[in-house]
Amino acid sequence: MSDWTRRHWEKGGVSSILGLTVSQNAWAVAMFSDLLTDIPPYRIIELGTGKGGLSILLSLRVPPRHVHTYDLSDFRSGRVVDSHRKLGIQFHQEDIWTNEPSIADLISQDGRTWLLCDGGDKTREVETFAQYLKKGDVIGAHDCCPKRDVWRWHEVDVPRVEEVARRYHLEPTGNQHAEKAAWWLRWMP
Ligand SMILES: C[S@@+](CC[C@H](N)C(=O)[O-])C[C@H]1O[C@@H](n2cnc3c(N)ncnc32)[C@H](O)[C@@H]1O
Repeated sequence: MSDWTRRHWEKGGVSSILGLTVSQNAWAVAMFSDLLTDIPPYRIIELGTGKGGLSILLSLRVPPRHVHTYDLSDFRSGRVVDSHRKLGIQFHQEDIWTNEPSIADLISQDGRTWLLCDGGDKTREVETFAQYLKKGDVIGAHDCCPKRDVWRWHEVDVPRVEEVARRYHLEPTGNQHAEKAAWWLRWMP
């Protein structure tokens, strides 16, 4: 672990994007920056907004109003709410489990969807929503760090999400940062 990574890890698992808090490590910022270029999305669905910093990074390379982020509660600061408004990020204060049909509809619309599972039960999110993916779409689940070396949390049941990958013929994206970013990441080629 590098000094920088250790300092970040010791901080408790947050970093910042443009000065705003994001519940990701710095590798995740690098991963998404690369992925936005390599497999560009038409829309992004983020399950679990948290403080809302990641939505901001994600919104920089997609058409306005094409980032949809869901949370049970609104944990965003005033600055983040303002940035979300300016960037056209659609915040849905909803329980994802009672809104499966509308999320499914969004995923399956034309244009590449990225579905990022970072809510309360990432494994169940992958198991529930992967069925709506179409060719070209990307799916990820955060807090996948079995060794807990570069990230404190491991909340993804890897055998279960791998079973989903087999069922829907999902493949690794080839992104070099995914493992260090603590993301399980696949796409449907
Ligand atoms: C780890 S945080 C998200 C962090 C954010 N993606 C980021 O990178 O900054 C997880 C969020 O999922 C939300 N959550 C948990 N269960 C949910 C549910 N059933 N529906 C919507 N959001 C939920 C929690 O309220 C929490 O804010």
